[in-house]
Amino acid sequence: MGCSRGLKAALLLGVALLIFTESVVGRFVVEKNSLKVMSPDSVKGNHDSAIGNFGIPQYGGSMAGAVVYPKDNQKGCDDFGISFKAKAGAMPNFVLLDRGECFFALKVWNAQNAGAAAVLVADYIDEALITMDSPEEKSRAEKYISNITIPSALIDKSFGEKLKEAINKGDMVNVNLDWREAVPHPDDRVEYELWTNSNDECGFKCDMLMEFVKDFKGAAQILEKSGYTQFTPHYITWYCPQAFTISKQCKSQCINHGRYCTPDPEQDFSTGYEGKDVVIENLRQLCVFRVANETKKPWIWWDYVTDFQIRCPMKEKKYNNECAEGVIKSLGLDLKKIKKCMGDPEADSDNQVLKEEQDAQVGKGSRGDVTILPTLVVNNRQYRGKLEKGAVLKALCAGFEETTEPSVCLSGDVETNECLDNNGGCWEDKSNNITACKDTFRGRVCECPVVNGVQFKGDGYSSCVASGPGRCKITNGGCWHDTKNGITFSACVDNDDGKCTCPPGFKGDGVKSCEDIDECSEKKACQCPECSCKNTWGSYECTCSRDLLYIRDHDTCISKRATEVRSAWTAVWVIFLGLAMATCGAYLVYRYRLRSYMDSEIRAIMAQYMPLDSQNEVVSHANEERA
Ligand SMILES: *[C@@H]1O[C@H](CO)[C@@H](O)[C@H](O)[C@H]1NC(C)=O
Ligand SMILES: *[C@@H]1O[C@H](CO)[C@@H](O)[C@H](O)[C@H]1NC(C)=O
Ligand SMILES: *[C@@H]1O[C@H](CO)[C@@H](O)[C@H](O)[C@H]1NC(C)=O
Repeated sequence: MGCSRGLKAALLLGVALLIFTESVVGRFVVEKNSLKVMSPDSVKGNHDSAIGNFGIPQYGGSMAGAVVYPKDNQKGCDDFGISFKAKAGAMPNFVLLDRGECFFALKVWNAQNAGAAAVLVADYIDEALITMDSPEEKSRAEKYISNITIPSALIDKSFGEKLKEAINKGDMVNVNLDWREAVPHPDDRVEYELWTNSNDECGFKCDMLMEFVKDFKGAAQILEKSGYTQFTPHYITWYCPQAFTISKQCKSQCINHGRYCTPDPEQDFSTGYEGKDVVIENLRQLCVFRVANETKKPWIWWDYVTDFQIRCPMKEKKYNNECAEGVIKSLGLDLKKIKKCMGDPEADSDNQVLKEEQDAQVGKGSRGDVTILPTLVVNNRQYRGKLEKGAVLKALCAGFEETTEPSVCLSGDVETNECLDNNGGCWEDKSNNITACKDTFRGRVCECPVVNGVQFKGDGYSSCVASGPGRCKITNGGCWHDTKNGITFSACVDNDDGKCTCPPGFKGDGVKSCEDIDECSEKKACQCPECSCKNTWGSYECTCSRDLLYIRDHDTCISKRATEVRSAWTAVWVIFLGLAMATCGAYLVYRYRLRSYMDSEIRAIMAQYMPLDSQNEVVSHANEERA
């Protein structure tokens, strides 16, 4: 009995060490972000800081702020009673706090409540950076920890002292926290794994994990189906020391003769479900994944685990084979294959699936040993921060090279809300509620939008104009338009090259204004003698005197009998008469000259017979004619 109690204690301790603490033998990799001091010069430069395991690190992004070191409550364990909220237009405040006395998470929570944008915790001893983890369950921390949204980072002691010194001297200390390189992006697919557990009764951490899986399912499935990610679920097990394999405790917590164990769900061996039940369900979930993966539909795992949570909870005593198999059947998975994959839990031999899981627990490359549940690993880097859809999506998105990220990364799911403030400095059309500001996980981008299928074009900052077919339907293509007395004129031409052109009857740039042309006073039309002109908006009215009719196309008045068009016929007559007169004239000239020539010939002949006083003249005339 005493021996058994001792064993029980040893097992519990072992479990506790393995599952819940970070100080087990093995490598625990601290995820870092870069902290760059921009001013003052005395501290300028890059420093490492360790990303806290709660709050929301801005994976893929960066954040600038001014460091504040409070005069009182420097450890941040109490409410601050003052506000760190930055005034409009000022840089956000990062609060610097000292390590010690209370949980990291409580310091961050207090600072967040006082309006801090981020928290830097200065270590109190000289050591390598550690990860600030969330306190364990059943503490009062669980009430606030999931509400922490600001990022936090631990900095080393000496760097902390330098910052404090600068602040005490009255320097303005500006820093930039940068998470852009926190996740590597070696290729265009992000590999990520979630170390999870089917146990639903471990309190705060289990609830958080269940909530996350439910919440994240949609995004995970979209990413997986479109090939952007490769997800693998993992489950931690441990083995029972050889000497204890036949003990009651190992028998209740392990399968395959002590090879694969998980802690008792209630941590009480005498009641409820046993650790063994959890191992079996974990194994089933692994096999569901494998079988689904074989049929090229690995995302069914998400459906299975969420359905199982809902349909087979421990609380309702439904956490069993029968219920699980019901879920498998309704998802249309091959039950036989899954059973085959699970093997015989009573066999005194290795289970291939679970053995691979135990091997995978050991750290590789940039990833440390997996010792904390739940653990998320993105591109072989341990994820730090809150296990929450938006935050995790941000981390996954940071695993893509900029511009190769899937659209879910650019959607509202991972908003940064930078568009709320001054529209992010982007173009907007307030009256039509159209904006170029887009929230993405990398921060806001100014990009001309597509509205009702019509693409806007422009720089996104100062201008965006609807272009292409249909553009005139949207805010009139950014062109001038106006309505008077029920008549509308528009300077927009559909299918145009995006230019605005004032309609006929108007002049102007077509964008800001088009002005009516006064055709009457500018003598553009209606100028015939019988015409009387009256300008209208966008046009003119022309009437003719007497009973004449105005013909707009010819801009002239005609008789109502309309058999002859006066002016045209007049012109023809004028030409005809002109031609006739010219012909006559030419003829007369010819006749005159002929006659005068003959006259002079006759005179010359006659002169041969009688003297004439004008003889010289006649000769010269004759000479001229012959020349
Ligand atoms: C945390 O947030 C939830 C919902 O937003 C709220 O109901 C709850 O009171 C918050 N907890 C604390 C400690 O502020
Ligand atoms: C899932 O299938 C892919 C190929 O379809 C393979 O590369 C991957 O290793 C499989 N994962 C597991 C855990 O079997
Ligand atoms: C503007 O559009 C957004 C979404 O497109 C909507 O949420 C908001 O209510 C709209 N505001 C106005 C004033 O119409």
